[in-house]
Amino acid sequence: MTADPLADVVNLDDLEALARERLDAMTFDYYAGGAGDEVTLRENRAAFARLVLRYRVLRGADRPDPRTTVLGQELSLPALVAPTAFHGLAHPQGELATTRAAGAAGTVMVLSTLATEAVEDVVAAAAGPVWFQLYVYKDRPATEALVRRAEAAGCRALVLTVDSPRLGRRERDVRSRFHLPPHLRAKNLLPAGMADLGPDRHDSGLAAYFHALLDPALTWADVGWLRSISRLPLLVKGVVRGDDAARALDEGAHGVVVSNHGGRQLDGAPATLDVLPEVVDAVAGRGEVLLDGGVRRGADVLKALALGARAVLLGRPVLWGLAVGGEAGARRALELLRAEVELAMTLVGARAVDEVSRDLVAPTPR
Ligand code: FNR
Ligand code: LAC
Repeated sequence: MTADPLADVVNLDDLEALARERLDAMTFDYYAGGAGDEVTLRENRAAFARLVLRYRVLRGADRPDPRTTVLGQELSLPALVAPTAFHGLAHPQGELATTRAAGAAGTVMVLSTLATEAVEDVVAAAAGPVWFQLYVYKDRPATEALVRRAEAAGCRALVLTVDSPRLGRRERDVRSRFHLPPHLRAKNLLPAGMADLGPDRHDSGLAAYFHALLDPALTWADVGWLRSISRLPLLVKGVVRGDDAARALDEGAHGVVVSNHGGRQLDGAPATLDVLPEVVDAVAGRGEVLLDGGVRRGADVLKALALGARAVLLGRPVLWGLAVGGEAGARRALELLRAEVELAMTLVGARAVDEVSRDLVAPTPR
């Protein structure tokens, strides 16, 4: 009998350490890495550590209710699975496993355009809602076909990623000549003949793929275009400024994801938590504001909620769980976070997520 690798996992960082032992170096570095000097990657987490929680006492919050809604979708906790590419690198069941885990945990799976499983198969396997993250290709008919397939498959929202006109320079991936092994393909792109991501002689294979195929010249008009071709609710992902967030809503989006792509695009971008208040103020209740980047603790979730996020998205920890234990591992990542959210709610004195108010956070005194 083999020992259960999940048995001794206490927190999300434990999952990362175990995943590192199991994954090949190219895959681990692709998942873990950021752009440039990885300053923004580190800052995302550091920003959470710069805030303290000014907890309230004697509030009878012993059985807190972490449920919420996002775009009208009921979630069992204020955290969704962020879109991340190529789950097949971590586990043979790839996105099928992570999507089942998200549903079992009572939350939304945001499926990447660059999944190694096809959207139809993922939605068919799902036990809960699936949203589709969209990358816009130079080939607009192929892009529109992706949207149509996501709709027909039963995806309930679109998430347009806008921080990646070109791929950030992830030096780990340049050095490893990151690529997909031949048995893995970006299956959503099979009909368009853009599913293969082989090695490049000099660069990350993903950077070469982006450069060749994705549209680097997107503008705000393209948000309107997307709204004109689909009636699905739309989130614009990758915003770090109030004015951009307001513009997204002007163009018809239903909300934004405050995100710097987990520090993988522009190194030097601000930590997402630091810009969240500016975005929340600019949105002024006209849409929903989500946040991702560096969320690793239940207390992090509360800090984001206190500053006005409706929910957070979890990126890498779900991949670590998937690598360590497939569906059960991805589920463990979400359940560890849920347990920490519930504990933190009790300890700050919040019985429900709407009691996680702005006065609960303050900068760490110096
Ligand atoms: C990503 N991210 C991402 N975003 C997106 O819109 N489409 C994608 O295909 C991917 N792919 C992807 C792959 C990997 C390996 C990572 C780590 C990230 C970004 C992702 O949605 C999210 O913004 C960050 O991962 C959030 O930060 P944390 O939780 O990983 O710190
Ligand atoms: C990434 C892309 C695929 O971050 O979004 O690797």
